Amino acid sequence: MTSRRLVLTRSAAIFGSASTGLLLPEIVRAQAAKVRVGFMLPYTGTFAQLGVAIENGFRMAINEQGGKLGGREIEYFKVDDESEPSKGIENANKLVQRDKVDVIVGTVHSGVQMGIQKVARDTGVLSLIPNAGVHAATRGLCAPNVYRTSFSNSQPTRALGKVMMDKGHKKTVWITWKYAAGDEAFEGFKEGYTAAGGTIVKELGLPFPQVEFQALLTEIAALKPDAVACFFAGGGAAKFIRDYAAAGLKGKIPLYGSGFLTEGVLDAAGPAADGIITTMHYSDSLDTPRNKKFRLDYAKAFKALPDVYAVQGYDTGLLLVQGANAVKGDLANKPALYKSMEGAVIDSPRGKWTMSASHNPVQDIYIRQVDNKENKVIGVAAKALADSGAGCKMA
Ligand code: PHB
Repeated sequence: MTSRRLVLTRSAAIFGSASTGLLLPEIVRAQAAKVRVGFMLPYTGTFAQLGVAIENGFRMAINEQGGKLGGREIEYFKVDDESEPSKGIENANKLVQRDKVDVIVGTVHSGVQMGIQKVARDTGVLSLIPNAGVHAATRGLCAPNVYRTSFSNSQPTRALGKVMMDKGHKKTVWITWKYAAGDEAFEGFKEGYTAAGGTIVKELGLPFPQVEFQALLTEIAALKPDAVACFFAGGGAAKFIRDYAAAGLKGKIPLYGSGFLTEGVLDAAGPAADGIITTMHYSDSLDTPRNKKFRLDYAKAFKALPDVYAVQGYDTGLLLVQGANAVKGDLANKPALYKSMEGAVIDSPRGKWTMSASHNPVQDIYIRQVDNKENKVIGVAAKALADSGAGCKMA
């Protein structure tokens, strides 16, 4: 039940046929209550550092507003979702039922997101997705109370195939973790690459979050493709990059990927990452005052370099600030809140992006190359790329 409705019900019970005048102080007090923000993110496992970067970025956006949302103080709640899909619904319910949060900020893993999506659709709680790209969240299962500030899984890879064909790589092996994020990333890659005339000679995969890559790398060596394209992220991505080089493939068969491959892992991957080309909606080296200030402020605040996950967390904060300001902190005013977020133009470190009708970013996709522990922008792969939003019917 929304705080406004709660207040009205309680006041009506106290005052009987209460006039609006009698209700006003109660409403004012309810709005003065803290906004309850719930982080449902991975704080352990292969995506642990992604969760931390998202939370950091989100807090940074809020701290730029004096730590408030629409004039109201904030109380934070946290659940470690462990990137474990089987606990997704239970964990989301901890935040909604036990902690009574006004908004869930989460999560990273597409399978876990499906649990949050169910709870969001069942309860109407505001759900802001700071990473997980699962198509259904902004396609067939889209909802007025669900907004994604990151990407859809096929968005970053859709433009990758053309980039590879332009380099003359006509035969490619695809490799990924076999779950929604990897499968949907492949969907985007396949469409773009085959449309550009490329041939996918083999699809390889292993279950998430396994990192026993050796047998698959041996198979790649035997297949001798022109190039390899992949989806991996977090700790597993760092290991894949290192293992790829250790298997003797670096320098022989160029490695490409959606940009997650090289996000937040460049220290851990070391020189094995040099030269890898990826496509992504952010690049460390974007030469704009907005990005430079963001990077400097983030480094000062957290003694760490920001990555795409930090940007997505930050943008989630910016979106919520925009919505909360539009309703002067009254998050129970859903029509006005949603209207503001639907029309959002986010002035992000990645560049300005807008919210699509199905609540997914319409954004530029950059071509980046790893150079000396930085994802350097070397081109633009797609301008204002939108997800299809296929099957989305807002209730
Ligand atoms: C996902 O599961 O949707 C996912 C996880 C990590 C990424 C990107 C997508 O870096």
